[in-house]
Amino acid sequence: MVGQGVIVAVDQGTSATKAIALDGAGRVVASVTRALGQSHPRPGWVEQDATAILDGVRAAVADVLARVDAPVLGLGLSSQRESALLWDTRSGEPLGPVLGWQDRRTSAAAARLAAHDAEVRERSGLPIDPMFSALKLGWLLDEVDPDRSRSARGEIAAGTVDSWLVHALTGEHRIEIGNASRTQLLNLATGTWDERLLDLFGVPANVLPRVVASTGASLPIAEFGGLRIHAVLGDSHAALYAHGVREPGAVKVTYGTGSSVMGLLTGERRGIAGGAAAGAGSAADPADAVRADSEGPIPAGLVGTIAWQLGDAPHQLAFEGNILATGATIAWLSRLLGRAVPELAALARTAGADHGVHLVPAFAGLGAPWWDPGARAVLSGFDLGTDAAVLARAGAESIAHQVEDVLAAADAAGPVTDVLADGGPSADDWLMQLQADLSGRRVHRGSRESLSACGAGLLAGDALGLSLPADSDSHPAMTTFTPALPAGRAGERREAWRRAVHLTRAAPS
Ligand code: G3P
Repeated sequence: MVGQGVIVAVDQGTSATKAIALDGAGRVVASVTRALGQSHPRPGWVEQDATAILDGVRAAVADVLARVDAPVLGLGLSSQRESALLWDTRSGEPLGPVLGWQDRRTSAAAARLAAHDAEVRERSGLPIDPMFSALKLGWLLDEVDPDRSRSARGEIAAGTVDSWLVHALTGEHRIEIGNASRTQLLNLATGTWDERLLDLFGVPANVLPRVVASTGASLPIAEFGGLRIHAVLGDSHAALYAHGVREPGAVKVTYGTGSSVMGLLTGERRGIAGGAAAGAGSAADPADAVRADSEGPIPAGLVGTIAWQLGDAPHQLAFEGNILATGATIAWLSRLLGRAVPELAALARTAGADHGVHLVPAFAGLGAPWWDPGARAVLSGFDLGTDAAVLARAGAESIAHQVEDVLAAADAAGPVTDVLADGGPSADDWLMQLQADLSGRRVHRGSRESLSACGAGLLAGDALGLSLPADSDSHPAMTTFTPALPAGRAGERREAWRRAVHLTRAAPS
């Protein structure tokens, strides 16, 4: 127990909401998961119901509270990022759907703004891409307030999932700074809304929440007896925190529907690395995208973001590489081949390594390090003998190769020898060994599940002056995967993968 109590932590994710209770040893002593649906009203559109998200969080917290008999000392919240919505300031009711982070409806708008990419990257740290909230908020406002008159009258509030939940639960219109940095409207250097970006994306300042630190607020939730929110983090940032990463050097990979590679940067910001890598459709040659750039602190092909801000301390910068389809590739193959995901994983192991087949899952373009919304998915090297096992293996390899593409780019911020892995697919030993083999890096997997929730809980504990152990404090419980493939052989397979990635760029758009 933490003293005599527990910390409750919530991770509001894309496909589920998890609520856990952490004791003083950082152990999960209660856990609840509530599934959450998405809808796809048109190709490339991804929507969620804001009320369903809120109801899921309420129910998950209520369920976990019912399972603990110790005093609850506080709550930490992590959430999916970039997804965006509007609500009515008078009724508090959503104005339309939540546009999910995977939503690509603003691709044409992104292309129209491509000439501003360098400026947007310099200010926000992010390349112009439909993933980030700015284009989504512009689209939503165009739907409900095309002339922005309702916005001017203060009738509309805009936000991300964290700000929606905090507003609904506490009445405060706020956004945590790390989540705000994923909107593409925040100035990375100052940590405040950027007038030029607001103008460019058509989002009036007065619809936006107040930007606040990750800790320091302590907001009470009346419906939970005044239980206070002590920490808010983006889910990927929370996983980094839970890994115990507090200094530049260590890099984590969160494997999920997509995947996120993240590490801290030194505090000072000195511009975004140039080169051909980042920017909507600007990576002409994949090889350029992983070329090290020692000039700037943010490696070429990766983005700059704010990891967190602890109270009054300066905000902590991070780099991140987002891969758009990893677990999603396995889900697609599962549907295509009519086999359950565990069966597919078992099947992948039965295929030999020298099958020569590559699946590059650019289903909605490519994210880091290529940032090419026009890329199209490619399956290459197959013949009449290609069977389901080879396809399953090519799908699994696409995860490891894409992660390694980003790790190779991250080397520019300092050599990455060790990788901290988390997320559902990281439970697969075979996949983790494959990652170590193709990457030539040691991969460490902790024993905790729900790492994002844990990170929010640990930070809430820290805000309360408690010190719950992070994953790196429990090394005996970690599993390490050491590269076993000769470097030359790994290099050949990487080269073959890069040739397959080239093909995605040549495909007609
Ligand atoms: O950037 C999107 C990410 O925050 C969503 O994560 O785990 O909910 O799919 P997840």
